[in-house]
Amino acid sequence: MKKIGIFDSGIGGLSIVTKLRNINLDKKIIYIADNAHFPYGSKDEEIIINRSSYLVERLVDLGCDIVIIACNTASSASLEFLRQKFQLPIIGMEPAVKPASQYSKSGKMLLLATPLTTSGNRLSMLEKNYVKNQKLFSLPMQGLAEHIEKANIPKKEFLSELKATLDHYYDLGVDCLVLGCTHYHFLKETLFTISPEHVKIFDSVDGVVNRLLQLLSEGMNTDELYNENNLELIDCYVTGSIASFSKSIKNIMEHYCDLPNLSIMKINEGR
Ligand code: DGL
Repeated sequence: MKKIGIFDSGIGGLSIVTKLRNINLDKKIIYIADNAHFPYGSKDEEIIINRSSYLVERLVDLGCDIVIIACNTASSASLEFLRQKFQLPIIGMEPAVKPASQYSKSGKMLLLATPLTTSGNRLSMLEKNYVKNQKLFSLPMQGLAEHIEKANIPKKEFLSELKATLDHYYDLGVDCLVLGCTHYHFLKETLFTISPEHVKIFDSVDGVVNRLLQLLSEGMNTDELYNENNLELIDCYVTGSIASFSKSIKNIMEHYCDLPNLSIMKINEGR
């Protein structure tokens, strides 16, 4: 049975784990939250490449045969490097600029992502390939992933600030909002409520899950991929504090959505 390894800087990648659980994927899932090094979005690319490379090694040690980089920032910084270094299939994430550009009627889109993602080459490439005679505004959301991970701003203030930022772009005609960070997925419902009805919100969760299903179904009957009775806990390793990660999980479940049951352990960094 294949083991799927997934990593992120923190809780963001659990958006993908949740989706895999909701579709009853019958595969062992191993998650690593690199919370000792959170946030990635304001660090140098080189640091993220080193962390990502280390985390893929750990997932390989834990027996994974497919890796998902459940983090737009780490994918933007390190996907090419990782694919050259490792033999196993590595699925990365990129902001859903392509589907948004196909959907947008006004031709104006807004991308919310971390500073490292908005300044990265991968975004320039996406823009060059898919944004033709259209406008993609990209907004580095300094501190937003931190807020979601740690819920350290009172919700009311946080929402009114976010709404004011978005309204400025909606007034300019933006009709597509692209969530370019896995942490922001947890805000999706909230963003619906503070955005005009005609605004469509895109994230990359379904794209990544579809790519995984495509890889898994190569040469096998797709019915065998699912099992409604799979209640196995997700093995979840953290590089930093278990207590602060558990607090983040509690915040998400209180403020945003349900998460699958996790068995949270400290990763053995002795290598
Ligand atoms: N979840 C990560 C992403 O998708 C970023 C959060 C961070 O800054 O660490 O980009």
